[in-house]
Amino acid sequence: MSIIKPDALRAGKAGRILARIEDDGFRVVALRLVRLTRAEAEGFYEVHRKRAFFTDLCDFMSSGPCIALALERDDAIVRLRDLMGATDPSQAVQGSIRKDFGVSVEQNAIHGSDGPETARVESRYFFSDLDLVR
Ligand code: CMP
Repeated sequence: MSIIKPDALRAGKAGRILARIEDDGFRVVALRLVRLTRAEAEGFYEVHRKRAFFTDLCDFMSSGPCIALALERDDAIVRLRDLMGATDPSQAVQGSIRKDFGVSVEQNAIHGSDGPETARVESRYFFSDLDLVR
């Protein structure tokens, strides 16, 4: 499960980011352009509620449209993490999505689930089983 974040859409980079995901061998099984409400952003990032950056993160994630993606490939969690690069774009490896398109640790272009169970829960946040096209 991935989200192309509002900074990337504002900058007109969503297509380029999606192309990188496809080029890496991921299959898109669901895709949705969505503008999260503040409450929906809070729900998505509930696990981070106690963190100092939570308010700013939710403001940012509800500041414009984003693209939710349900993705599949072998070893998807690890492969997407490698493709994205480190959370902080300044620490991300050359050629990674966050290195090339991220602006800051908050506006870092893309989200990816950190494990299979998280991916299932996050996918459910945006998609029903009927939305998943395999
Ligand atoms: P993401 O993969 O979407 O998961 C949680 C997000 O919180 C993360 O990417 C960052 O965009 C954001 N984040 C993590 N750490 C910080 C931080 N120290 N300051 C601001 N935002 C952060």
